[in-house]
Amino acid sequence: MSYQPPAQVSSEKARVLRLAYDHVVPGRVQGFHELGVDLVMGKREGYRFWDIDGQEYLDFHLNGGVFTLGHRNPELLAVLRQSLESLDIGNHHFPSLARADLAEQLIRLAPGKMQYVVFATGGSEAIDVAIKSARRATGRRKIVSLDIAYHGRTGLSGATGDDATAVFFNSNSPQDFIKVPFEDVDAVERALRHEDVAAVIIETIPATYGFITPSADYLPRIKALCERYDTLYIADEVQTGLGRTGHLWAVSAWGVEPDILVTAKGFSGGLYPIAATVLNARAGAWLAENGWGHVSGFGGAEVGCALAQRVLEICSDPGNLSHALRISDYFAAGFADIQRRHPYLRRVHRLGLVMGLEFDSPRGGVDMMKALYDIGLWAIFAGFKSSILQVKPGFLIDTRYCDEALERFQDAIRVAERQPKRDAIRLVSGGRSTSGSL
Ligand SMILES: Cc1ncc(COP(=O)(O)O)c(C=O)c1O
Repeated sequence: MSYQPPAQVSSEKARVLRLAYDHVVPGRVQGFHELGVDLVMGKREGYRFWDIDGQEYLDFHLNGGVFTLGHRNPELLAVLRQSLESLDIGNHHFPSLARADLAEQLIRLAPGKMQYVVFATGGSEAIDVAIKSARRATGRRKIVSLDIAYHGRTGLSGATGDDATAVFFNSNSPQDFIKVPFEDVDAVERALRHEDVAAVIIETIPATYGFITPSADYLPRIKALCERYDTLYIADEVQTGLGRTGHLWAVSAWGVEPDILVTAKGFSGGLYPIAATVLNARAGAWLAENGWGHVSGFGGAEVGCALAQRVLEICSDPGNLSHALRISDYFAAGFADIQRRHPYLRRVHRLGLVMGLEFDSPRGGVDMMKALYDIGLWAIFAGFKSSILQVKPGFLIDTRYCDEALERFQDAIRVAERQPKRDAIRLVSGGRSTSGSL
């Protein structure tokens, strides 16, 4: 494999690309380069960031929702700065005021009757905790997940969903991780019938599949099956939670009360890594039996806790939740207008700010990503359904920002619709491409 930074970039950018290729993640640098993207983030502020060579981007990727409250949100920065005045990471062996308060708030705001919170450094670790907890609570090993899902890249999370990367690392466990197609309730029942499945894990609206909204009865029927076969329901709300659907947690839109809920990404306010697994009494009973059953030196680091509390306050604020829905409707009207002139935009999948634009070409999402990138909007296609562009608008954007973005979508579609229709691609392992939820 050989890589040359593009000739037209500055020497500073070429240096970063070179170093990243040589020492950090060559396959990803090369993979993006082959898609026409050689991005190095520089300045960032609100819902915009700038490439280090100065090109401005409206951020419709938000790194999977990490920046749902914006880049370097001043209010959150102030909370973090204040925490740094008196706290540090803390010692996870001991109870802590910061963690106790955050746990109490999470339990109060979680759907259903939750009891415990395990803090983690990121989403993958938090999913691992969810799986371990379900196994311990049920005494069973098997985990059912969607074959188009992405739940992370650590051991257990990496073996769920599409496990091509787990296979790549010889870390898959097909005997324990059963994959079922999206919207196929019978397949879930066939898997649960043997009464040896610990949990069904579902990302409430699967990002890697382009945020196609599940039908009204899909998630409730899975929950009912879980109850019938004594299997736990794990809701992965890493991308869909924190108000993005107009509900604090997307599962609430279906009235589903999970046994375990996982939050990460945006929970950090984009400033300090923190994630959480929220457990009901049964799922978390092991915490009383084994105080050191899961240990994470940085999980729930105290400096991040007040920040996450403020994130929860902002994301559960009823005014902000209705604002998100108004913005969603504003986009819906804008996209409908574009669609009238450009049937290339086939379908808009949307629940609140969780959106996917489906195009009339197997690789339409990729072509749109590139066309938008060239004119200053960063959004990424769905890793396992390349006809769809994931659209993740910020939680606090205003209509002026929407107008600017809609204009760029309109301009980009004119370019993308002229591209030849090429075969779909899947961003999975194999060395060359990146994989994951993007
Ligand atoms: C739905 C979902 N679950 C879990 C994860 C894993 O989170 P992290 O990257 O913080 O480990 C991701 C990350 O993209 C995700 O999108």
